[in-house]
Amino acid sequence: MPTIFITGANRGIGLEAARQFAASGWSVHACCRNPGKADALKAIKGVTVHALDVGDFKAIDGLAAKLRGTPVDVLLNNAGMNARVELGTIDYERWAELFRVNTMAPLKLCEAFAEHIAASGRKLIVNISSIMGSITHSNGKWYPYRSSKAALNMVSKCLSGDWASRGITVISVHPGWVRTDMGGPNASVSVEDSVKGIKKLIEGAGPAANGRFYQYDGAELPW
Ligand SMILES: NC(=O)c1ccc[n+]([C@@H]2O[C@H](COP(=O)([O-])OP(=O)(O)OC[C@H]3O[C@@H](n4cnc5c(N)ncnc54)[C@H](OP(=O)(O)O)[C@@H]3O)[C@@H](O)[C@H]2O)c1
Repeated sequence: MPTIFITGANRGIGLEAARQFAASGWSVHACCRNPGKADALKAIKGVTVHALDVGDFKAIDGLAAKLRGTPVDVLLNNAGMNARVELGTIDYERWAELFRVNTMAPLKLCEAFAEHIAASGRKLIVNISSIMGSITHSNGKWYPYRSSKAALNMVSKCLSGDWASRGITVISVHPGWVRTDMGGPNASVSVEDSVKGIKKLIEGAGPAANGRFYQYDGAELPW
């Protein structure tokens, strides 16, 4: 059975991904900041839960060492945060934190788990980005969040070139505007439908997908 490693899996898209992949018989390594409070995640059969704050890069190295020898077919970099700040009130400390969690941590996870991914059958890295990180689609506002996801897209694109020779596929995925704590109750896509689409993308993503930016429903997005 393939193995998926998911960050930010205690709620929202990450939790639903843990549910759907476990239900399909995948081996699921699910990370969250506080397993003591992750009852919904711990209740899913077939899931191994790890404590991980993705902003703690030593902890990422520690977990990679603990899992040495475990092939990881899919690294799902899902953990992310937002900042509701606008021009004139930008909180620069918060922006730096956003960059650490949304942009730097996904690449740190790729570096730390490179051997686990290279040793697997599928060799796939999925960075959960956002259409708000698309420069083509940008129409202003949301500077910290947009820039952190645009930079994550650059990470995906660069890594897709650098690791193509290792047979590793790297994609960015926009999950849709999803009804989670981040997306809010008025969002247009249910978490179940978003993850169904992301799962279908993951199951079908081979080398031809490398270096591309997709929406959860399979449509390709411009960078
Ligand atoms: N919902 C949308 O409409 C939407 C649209 C585009 C992109 N996205 C992206 O989709 C991903 C998942 O979002 P969501 O909607 O599921 O959001 P969510 O419900 O707010 O969940 C965010 C998840 O990320 C985790 N997280 C945040 N900072 C972390 C850190 N430092 N270390 C480890 N985990 C951390 C949270 O853990 P805690 O519970 O510990 O805070 C939580 O599990 C994010 O990357 C987001 O940017 C969402």
